[in-house]
Amino acid sequence: MRTKPIRFLLTGGTLALIAFFAALFFLPKPQGTGLTVNKDVPFYSMPWNDNPFFPGLINTADGKMLDGANVPSAEFCAQCHEKEYREWASSVHSDTGLDLLYDTAANNNEVAHKNRNGLEKTRWCESCHEPVNLLRGEVNPLAVVGPSQAAKEGTTCVVCHTAVKADPLAGNGAVTLDLNNLNNYNEALIMAAPSEHARNMQSKTHNPLMGSSDFCGACHTEIRPVEINGGDPLHLQSTYEEWQKSEYAEKNIQCQDCHMPPDPAAFIAELNETGKTPKRVVSHRFVGVNYLLTDPTLPSNLTTFLRGGLPPGGISLDEWKADLLEQQRLTLDLIKSAATLSVSAPASVSPNATANLDVTIVNSGAGHSLPTGALDQRHMWLEVKATDATGKVIYDNGWFDEKTGKVDPSAVIYIKVLVDKNDDPIYEHILFNVKSYSYTRDPIPANASDTIPYAIPIPADAQGTITVQTTLWYRLALQEFVTYSLKLDMILPPVMMAQNMIEIPAK
Ligand code: HEC
Ligand code: HEC
Ligand code: HEC
Ligand code: HEC
Ligand code: HEC
Repeated sequence: MRTKPIRFLLTGGTLALIAFFAALFFLPKPQGTGLTVNKDVPFYSMPWNDNPFFPGLINTADGKMLDGANVPSAEFCAQCHEKEYREWASSVHSDTGLDLLYDTAANNNEVAHKNRNGLEKTRWCESCHEPVNLLRGEVNPLAVVGPSQAAKEGTTCVVCHTAVKADPLAGNGAVTLDLNNLNNYNEALIMAAPSEHARNMQSKTHNPLMGSSDFCGACHTEIRPVEINGGDPLHLQSTYEEWQKSEYAEKNIQCQDCHMPPDPAAFIAELNETGKTPKRVVSHRFVGVNYLLTDPTLPSNLTTFLRGGLPPGGISLDEWKADLLEQQRLTLDLIKSAATLSVSAPASVSPNATANLDVTIVNSGAGHSLPTGALDQRHMWLEVKATDATGKVIYDNGWFDEKTGKVDPSAVIYIKVLVDKNDDPIYEHILFNVKSYSYTRDPIPANASDTIPYAIPIPADAQGTITVQTTLWYRLALQEFVTYSLKLDMILPPVMMAQNMIEIPAK
């Protein structure tokens, strides 16, 4: 049974209550009670150095561990910030840890380096995916910590709202959280001194860091440290640097501008139309590309299974599903606003000849490369399909087989191919084992384009006008990951990013 927490209403009627709490202003401030390794958290294993969170780069302002039971959860914040809570609950940030895709991959990485500090090495993953978990000492062979609601909430409110420092180029979760001074934080303390609370939460008037890409970049730059598997540091995600080199950075358009408006696709359309940055209005949905974790229509509770359960707080399943449906609409719209397709073709073509086409993809909406992120899984490809006047398919390059989840091996595809020490490909995100990687085709930088030539042989019996339909497909993960890691009997379908249709008359 999930119960609804009592909600504080910030209406005129609560003035008396506020006056009462104001008296508490004179009470002593909460005391920092961070935990010390070995003293408060015994048997904590540190194979590399005396930084307990290494090879993750997240840290606390006082260098101490968090006392998990005292970390304010999203459910606590939800009492007074229902709007932000509801938005966050359908975002992927509320699920960075329980996400079945993540959880499975983290376990598989750990197992791959069993007896080689596999578990401690996952501190690198946890630094970005489950920071509270890591900061309270749970990622340890002998976990001696008690229960914590906040630790289950992935990138929960206080992970962002207590960030006082960030290093976006170092990445790997390089944020410093001033969180230990919030122990015993409660409603009375907040209402007694709301502006102090706003400052503790790094409100924009107090700390501009939160509103800038530099903050997001700390977790959106992933570099595998040498301690994991030797070799050189391996750059796995470079979204921040891609943005930093783009015109968007020059024009002061931050990650928050595109990913936090109530409707990111509408924001990008307005930006492209007017050339002016619309005023920043924030939503905590953090719309991205994850059309799987935001799909509430999956059969037999697959959605809650994939997300590791219901979100925390008093939200009902129906409310949450309605929120997810909206999240998915916004996600599919954002994916469609990323790219435009154009095709140049001959004026006419005759049977038995070859139609030479140029297909151009423009990265017209993403403030970084297209695609970006976890590129060994996320991929996009082109399908070029030609039919004659009778509707007969005379050419199809880049097909997708809905029965097996396979993509045409000759497709023009954008993916990062990871290989292990035997040069065998790694399909299931076992980043610990990567020796090197290559791109089948380089991701397209912001505002840049990529042109691909196609030669379509027109059969002798082709009838009349040839119709060429070009589609840019996007897919969240490889089928191998779904089948062998998640062990799900489902085909992960791609979604459409852009489509173009032209007709080539017969000569
Ligand atoms: C008991 C009610 C209450 C709780 C619980 C609460 N807040 Fe607040 N919060 C407020 C009030 C009231 C303000 C307005 C303060 C002001 O503007 O002076 C505020 C302001 C803020 C701001 C600044 C907003 C701005 O306009 O810049 C942030 C950020 C914030 N809260 C985040 C949080 C987070 C994160 C939590 C959970 C750890 C939380 N709050 C818990 C009542 C609450
Ligand atoms: C991934 C980081 C992140 C998480 C997680 C997060 N926030 Fe925020 N929050 C932000 C950013 C960024 C802003 C906007 C700052 C700016 O524009 O300067 C913001 C703004 C706010 C504001 C001010 C809103 C306004 O309209 O100005 C409140 C209140 C707030 N957050 C509460 C919360 C609560 C409650 C949670 C958890 C349910 C939460 N945040 C989770 C990053 C985050
Ligand atoms: C503490 C680390 C952390 C911080 C800080 C952070 N993120 Fe994330 N973010 C993540 C992780 C981890 C994921 C992927 C989670 C998953 O898919 O399981 C993610 C996913 C996303 C996505 C993709 C969602 C989707 O549907 O595909 C977007 C967009 C995003 N973050 C934007 C931001 C922005 C904007 C900021 C800064 C305001 C930010 N993030 C700050 C860790 C972080
Ligand atoms: C000009 C608008 C814009 C800006 C600025 C922007 N993004 Fe994006 N972002 C997009 C669009 C459009 C997509 C969907 C297409 C794609 O995947 O690239 C996207 C996708 C993403 C994804 C999911 C990528 C994937 O394919 O899995 C992440 C994560 C992300 N952005 C993070 C960031 C971060 C972090 C920043 C700041 C450093 C940022 N974005 C700046 C527009 C923007
Ligand atoms: C620097 C921070 C960072 C580190 C370190 C990191 N990740 Fe991630 N991870 C992210 C971000 C950000 C995304 C989302 C990017 C996107 O949407 O393409 C992501 C996406 C993922 C996804 C896809 C999730 C989904 O729902 O589609 C998996 C799986 C994953 N990470 C597993 C891991 C594992 C396992 C490790 C450690 C071996 C790890 N990550 C280390 C930041 C990180």
